[in-house]
Amino acid sequence: MDTTAKIYEDLDRILVTREEIRQAVEKLGRQITEDYQGKDLVMVCILKGASLFFTDLIREVDLPLSTEFMAVSSYGSGTSSTGVVRILKDLDRNIENRHVLIVEDIVDSGKTLYYLMQVLSQRHPASISIAALLDKPARRVVDLTTRYSCFNIPDAFVVGYGLDYDEKYRNLPDIGVLHPRIYQADDA
Ligand code: PRP
Repeated sequence: MDTTAKIYEDLDRILVTREEIRQAVEKLGRQITEDYQGKDLVMVCILKGASLFFTDLIREVDLPLSTEFMAVSSYGSGTSSTGVVRILKDLDRNIENRHVLIVEDIVDSGKTLYYLMQVLSQRHPASISIAALLDKPARRVVDLTTRYSCFNIPDAFVVGYGLDYDEKYRNLPDIGVLHPRIYQADDA
């Protein structure tokens, strides 16, 4: 779909275009290919937000990597996470002595990834790093290092390319700022 699609009327503005995403994903794929040469790489998709980023990114990595999927839920709903994380679906395979790259759509407070890094580190991987599409540094409340991140964005409520509001808008090919009237209407 293009940006004249009806669903785009719910956006205030587009923040990252599909073309910018495509270029960033290609560049990151090349970087990962270089950095993980000769290593047993496991790329871990954190559902659901990272799903689109993940499937595009792995196709740009020229290595015999394996894929894993993990589903977590930060208790509560709405526009911010609480930091209390529950594992809804764990990895299928052992990651001991393997190089793990966690793929996330967005680092906001950082609490979700901080928790995941702790949990997965205890399984003795050879290394563990984070690749995030979006980073909101202004919102960070924990000390977290992301090895790769594509875009720093302002503290706005963003949707699209996997990111949702109330489970909707994940299917937008671009990333945009949700129009406040959408969540204000839900709050009323
Ligand atoms: C989002 C996102 C990260 C987390 C970031 O997931 O995918 O996992 O929030 O927030 P934090 O840095 O403040 O912890 P969400 O819980 O919305 O689930 P989803 O990926 O299924 O949309």
